Amino acid sequence: MKTIIEPFRTKVVEPIYFTSQGEREALLACAGYNLFKLNAKDCTIDFLTDSGTAALSSDQWSALMRADESYAGASSFHRFEKSVKSIFGFKEVLPVHQGRAAERLLFSELVKPGQKIPSNTHFDTTRANLEARGATAVDLPCRAWRDGDSAASFAGNIDLSELERLICEAEPGMIPFAMLTVTNNACGGQPVSMRNLRQTSQLLKRHHIPLFIDAARFAENAYLIQQREENYSSTSISSIVEEMFTYADGCLMSCKKDGIANIGGFIALNDSELVERVKVEMIVTEGFPTYGGLSGRDLETIAIGLYEATNEDYLRYREASARFLHDRLKRIGIPVISPPALHAVYVDAAAMLTHIPPLELPGQALACELYREAGIRSCEIGTAMFGKSDPETGITVCAPHELVRLALPRRVYSQSHYEYVIEAFSNINQRRSSIRGLKITKQAEKLRHFTAVYEPIEKTSPSINCDSEMEGFNKNRVLYEI
Ligand code: F0G
Repeated sequence: MKTIIEPFRTKVVEPIYFTSQGEREALLACAGYNLFKLNAKDCTIDFLTDSGTAALSSDQWSALMRADESYAGASSFHRFEKSVKSIFGFKEVLPVHQGRAAERLLFSELVKPGQKIPSNTHFDTTRANLEARGATAVDLPCRAWRDGDSAASFAGNIDLSELERLICEAEPGMIPFAMLTVTNNACGGQPVSMRNLRQTSQLLKRHHIPLFIDAARFAENAYLIQQREENYSSTSISSIVEEMFTYADGCLMSCKKDGIANIGGFIALNDSELVERVKVEMIVTEGFPTYGGLSGRDLETIAIGLYEATNEDYLRYREASARFLHDRLKRIGIPVISPPALHAVYVDAAAMLTHIPPLELPGQALACELYREAGIRSCEIGTAMFGKSDPETGITVCAPHELVRLALPRRVYSQSHYEYVIEAFSNINQRRSSIRGLKITKQAEKLRHFTAVYEPIEKTSPSINCDSEMEGFNKNRVLYEI
């Protein structure tokens, strides 16, 4: 059979609520045009994130009942530990309540002010945690991503020559480690190839710099290696995963993604001495090292979810559903990042709303319009998330891309939900030139997109409209003066 179907059937259902366009208009205004501030019940389709939003399997629900909630040495911890060690191959595992806790704990031991930490692209919380330690998070996405090359199979790679240059130019000891995020969430969810992982590891080893993998979507990355990389088409997902992690000194993981869990994460390392140091800090803020802020039930869910995420039928369905949404949007003329990732479809808002300049936040404007049209919640990954204003110079640096991410929760939505989203895009596309930009009226110093307040701009400013001069989704890589 050629038709790829969901490799599961539904046992429990959750109602979806509908709102009128007028209600959504009022809800948007009330939320300050920030979709994080909406109530979930007011979102008909919630594509805000694929993080912590998965449907659990019957095996996971059964495991919840047998969970051991003892404070120390619970058998749920041992099952969790066994699962992580056997999948990732590291000697030591520390559970944490989610990915950013892993970042904070590891960085508090390894990062000093003034140091630089290169990556294929740091996710926002990773960047914030590095900056909180006074370090610089250096993004080195590969050329294929920077050029918007839709034929590239592995646009999530790190640029190896830029990495080498950074290392050679740095003072000794100023690069304590490097990171690779698999898949590369901030770069369209594009995967990292095994070749790039191997070569990064070799380069770093020559310079005695450790490599840590941000493993949030490790199974999806492994699947794309199997599908796209030469010599891996007949290698099993578990063997690909095993090889991927032999190139690293450790990994951090938010299990809210490919752990198919609603909460949780871990740090896995080979360096026992470093583990002991992290444990000390961990006990202060996360909990005893055999639970790390998680309940036994969470540990059980993750122990099973990590295996379910590497199941090939599941990954095939996951790819087919992302591809369905991507292909259908493309067919109706929506500029999407190609090839599609697995966890999300990314719409290029700058290419869709060419009349809205980056500083007027085309991504946020499109995300708001999707909500207004059909109650669909998505997430801007552009200047609202990554732009920065320097209070002293008044210069705002725009993000390299203005994307809207339609993140696909695991095992939650079906094809008819996707068809609803496609219809909403089709309607918006017909009146796209009437969509207005937004301005930020209130923002926090860090991770501003979570709490910012926006306001619609009456008329798009012609003086900063860069549309006619630049092509493609790289056109925003410029400085704007405000
Ligand atoms: N690393 C990556 C690649 C992520 O995508 C995330 C979270 C984290 C680390 C932090 O993990 O949320 O468990 O603390 N990404 C979510 C998202 C929030 O929507 O992409 P966390």
